[in-house]
Amino acid sequence: MKTIDSLGDLRGKRVLVRSDFNVPLDKATGAITDEGRIVAALPTLKRLADAGARVVVTAHLGRPKPVDGFTPEPAFSLAPVAARLGELLGTTVPLAEDLTGPSAEKTVAALEDGQVAMLENVRFDPRETSKDDAARAALADELAALADAFVSDGFGVVHRKQASVYDVAQKLPAAAGDLVLQEVESLSRATGEAEKPYAVVLGGSKVSDKLGVIANLLTKADRLLIGGGMVFTFLKAQGHEVGTSLLEEDQIDTVKGYLATAEENGVEIVLPVDIVVADAFDAPAPAGTVAADAIPADKIGLDIGPESGALFAGKLADTRTIAWNGPMGVFERAEYAEGTKAVAQGIVDATANGAFSIVGGGDSAAAVRVLGFDEAGFSHISTGGGASLELLEGKELPGLTVLA
Ligand code: 3PG
Ligand code: MG
Repeated sequence: MKTIDSLGDLRGKRVLVRSDFNVPLDKATGAITDEGRIVAALPTLKRLADAGARVVVTAHLGRPKPVDGFTPEPAFSLAPVAARLGELLGTTVPLAEDLTGPSAEKTVAALEDGQVAMLENVRFDPRETSKDDAARAALADELAALADAFVSDGFGVVHRKQASVYDVAQKLPAAAGDLVLQEVESLSRATGEAEKPYAVVLGGSKVSDKLGVIANLLTKADRLLIGGGMVFTFLKAQGHEVGTSLLEEDQIDTVKGYLATAEENGVEIVLPVDIVVADAFDAPAPAGTVAADAIPADKIGLDIGPESGALFAGKLADTRTIAWNGPMGVFERAEYAEGTKAVAQGIVDATANGAFSIVGGGDSAAAVRVLGFDEAGFSHISTGGGASLELLEGKELPGLTVLA
């Protein structure tokens, strides 16, 4: 992949940077609840600014649905991000009111060497995510007209074939930013020849989101530890009742197939042995902990239990490579955070013993921070959700192939 060095002397040059600033916002206050992606973007932005470039950042926030032309929606404005980015950089980061219109032109023209500005949410323009190649190319031309070079550093979006990720890289001298390089290098340690024993911990709500990953990892990993909402489809596939827990009936046969393939390939599938249950998702408190093969018909499972936490940690202790994607339970609520904590601690301990550990997926990365773990305890915390999953699936990502 081309690197920033390949762009030559950047002093006085306008550099368009695609960052992933799709951060979670508090619904009531609009405040940023996890700034991990902004912090992760800083090294590349600082490096470009230090090189004297005039840095123009394009990014998206959420999934606004513009119909006809550029349509700003205040709830999806990048204003909170620009403000926070300015604080973190120790300067003011001007935010254009539009994307490629008069405000953007004015903002870019006013940039001094070493200064950083932002364009408003690129998804306010329907061409950004258009399936029509010509529409995306037209937007990419407008973006390219604002800059002399392009740096792709929004790792979280490199799996999207979108104008500001894919098409614009064909319109300007383009390079991968340092975050993208570092993410790809780290994740390749779990997708190529991973050092063994290699354990993968998967959680989160849906099996259907992780089918490709599971299929691919059944040929690479030594152990697959499953928790989170998706575990109930595994338990059901083994013939157990799961009460009112999350269940994807239409995936039971697929999961049965995985269990059989795992057996054939000698991959150990580790499922929880106990489950923390409640009367209902919204019940004020848990109803107790039950054996995983004895979930009462009227109970919902919301976390893996303490024995399972210890079991999972034990299965991680001797590993050399760990990939983790998805929380073990509803960690946003303290009563159901223990399973995720036990796994996170198991990964930290294994890392201290020399394992290379990767935390992927927006939710598990957020869990690490929300639960108070030191990020330094993990080898790599990915900023990518879908992007890191697709790499683990072994897919080619358009935003990376275009930088080859
Ligand atoms: C993410 O949050 O995973 C990335 O920013 C991509 O966002 P998207 O799923 O809306 O394309
Ligand atoms: Mg997403």
